Amino acid sequence: QQKIIITIDGWSSCGKSTLAKQLARELGYIYIDSGAMYRAITLYFLRNHVDWTHPEIVHEAMQHIRLTFMSNHKSGQSEMHLNGENVEYVIRDLVVAEKVSEVAAIREVREFAVKQQQEMGKNKGIVMDGRDIGTVVFPHAELKIFMTAENEIRVKRRFQELYEKNPNITMEEVRANLEMRDYIDSHREVSPLRQADDALVLDNTNLTIKEQLEIAKKWVVERV
Ligand code: C5P
Repeated sequence: QQKIIITIDGWSSCGKSTLAKQLARELGYIYIDSGAMYRAITLYFLRNHVDWTHPEIVHEAMQHIRLTFMSNHKSGQSEMHLNGENVEYVIRDLVVAEKVSEVAAIREVREFAVKQQQEMGKNKGIVMDGRDIGTVVFPHAELKIFMTAENEIRVKRRFQELYEKNPNITMEEVRANLEMRDYIDSHREVSPLRQADDALVLDNTNLTIKEQLEIAKKWVVERV
């Protein structure tokens, strides 16, 4: 059967990665979490006190960053490695989330990430989620999904996820972070978050995880 490229873009915390992972598993495709790359670069900048407001400092720092996705033997899921270290867990921290949108707005950072993302999609059979995947990374993808959900639902879902790791976190902090990221992501100059003209909208405010998967699978069948 012919393999396609599936892109999933949308606002923060509306379940893009949940859907992307399930679709990839069902289809036997590769799943790539593009946000993990921006998070890992942000982690590197924070740890190494890189002043990312200076393009030449960013350029120098980028020479020392190697990102790889490695499959976890136990779970079978792909995990983000930064210079050989598994950072899949730490990059989900709010400390990284607070800065990632600033870092992801830098042109050189995006060029670095997009190049690798396009390379990974060369042989198709891939589901990638992010903000600019259907518009910039794979503008010719066979299936583009744009996900959205009501604000409060997104805040609650992300709060629950983060609370399990850190019970000190508040709903307010999570709400502020989502609003800030969505604002920066959709207003930046380079590859702002927007719905591709040919994307199909999936609003999952009132859908279960199973229902959204069924809808997406129907869309896939129409395209392969
Ligand atoms: O998907 P996730 O929420 O983990 O992404 C973290 C951040 O990375 C986003 O808020 C956005 O600033 C950035 N990002 C991006 N382009 C992508 C994926 C993520 O700018 N394709």
